[in-house]
Amino acid sequence: MTAIVAAERLTKRYGTTVTALDDVSIEVGRGEFAAVIGRSGSGKSTLMNILGCLDTPTSGSVAIGGRPVDYTDRNALVDLRRTALGFVFQQFNLIPNLTAEENVAYPLLFNYREKAERTERARMILERVGLLERATHYPSELSGGEQQRVAIARALVHDPLLVLADEPTGNLDSKTSAEILDLLRELNRDRQTTFVVVTHDRESGSLFDRTVRMVDGRVVA
Ligand SMILES: Nc1ncnc2c1ncn2[C@@H]1O[C@H](COP(=O)(O)OP(=O)(O)O)[C@@H](O)[C@H]1O
Ligand SMILES: [Mg+2]
Repeated sequence: MTAIVAAERLTKRYGTTVTALDDVSIEVGRGEFAAVIGRSGSGKSTLMNILGCLDTPTSGSVAIGGRPVDYTDRNALVDLRRTALGFVFQQFNLIPNLTAEENVAYPLLFNYREKAERTERARMILERVGLLERATHYPSELSGGEQQRVAIARALVHDPLLVLADEPTGNLDSKTSAEILDLLRELNRDRQTTFVVVTHDRESGSLFDRTVRMVDGRVVA
């Protein structure tokens, strides 16, 4: 198995009292669709943020695409986030004054693509998530499920190695949640993109290749 992301013995402490991650090692292979589950406060977001180079571990190491991440090199971290990683958040995090299409095209600005190509690619992926007819709408004109589909398109537009989704259905009703998880699974299958998805949806277990369970900052079997 080619590991797309491999974390070894990660710890994350806040001050002297909080241990958010305690000796966590995980490996996710190319094309895998992996779930992370666990109660609130168990360290799921901390793990996702460290894997996604948004946060720094206290100790331990991470490799993405076989390359060790240097958490002291800010430029390298920014570069990794822009080229190799895609993020989907519970709160969608779309830019309110950009249209759906502009939101999706936005990450390509940092990948030095021409405007015509940025628009073309954004429209292709919006079509794939079923929202091409909403391309010129602003986030406030879209439902929660639609906003999340735009955010998913944005996470995939630059063809990342790894997509990290932290409770992507946390703000959605159960029917929309199921549709969003199914969409992520289809995108994973179509494109062989690797996904790590934090989810609360109990019944979605069978959708995933694998489930990582966290308890008190540790991964348990
Ligand atoms: N910036 C922070 N400062 C102090 N403690 C934090 C901080 N961020 C998270 N924590 C603590 O770390 C633990 C894990 O949090 P988190 O990773 O957000 O859990 P989850 O996503 O599973 O709900 C919790 O006890 C939380 O209170
Ligand atoms: Mg969380």
